[in-house]
Amino acid sequence: MAAPMKRVRQFFQALNSQLTIEDGRYISTHLTAEEQKLFFAMDVTDQCHSLRTAYAIERFAIDDKQGVDREFLIRCALLHDVGRVKGDMSIVGKAAAVLASEVFPGAGAWLERRGSRLMYVYKHHAELGAKKLQDIGLFREAKIVAKHHSPPSPDDPKELKLLRLADEKS
Ligand SMILES: [Fe+2]
Ligand SMILES: [Fe+2]
Repeated sequence: MAAPMKRVRQFFQALNSQLTIEDGRYISTHLTAEEQKLFFAMDVTDQCHSLRTAYAIERFAIDDKQGVDREFLIRCALLHDVGRVKGDMSIVGKAAAVLASEVFPGAGAWLERRGSRLMYVYKHHAELGAKKLQDIGLFREAKIVAKHHSPPSPDDPKELKLLRLADEKS
């Protein structure tokens, strides 16, 4: 899907964000109480996006022979955007940050220089999230989350490549 259409789809998905009882069960199956605190500190739109990312990974039908730690990858998917906390970025704020950063990059850079929290979180949430994960001892997850928006490299672990793919689709 072309990037602008994907953004439009994501915007309308965000407007309809709501967790179901099944989603709640899924979260408690894969995340500990401490990890759930980080998950639920995100805005509900990001909670739903993270769930869609995990469900996309489920659809990849990864088996053990591929050398991918599937459970670890699901946890990374659920936690990959915890650097974005409720209140930092509303739906409209996120749409504005996307516009400023991707359509008018000069405006994004200008806002960041002016100390915009929104632009800062939008651009640096991967590192912010990794720090939160390290703080609760999740060093392995933090390594993947820190790089989920970094340019691809041949040395990237399989889990990181799959997370990027699922994130892109969600
Ligand atoms: Fe992200
Ligand atoms: Fe994401």
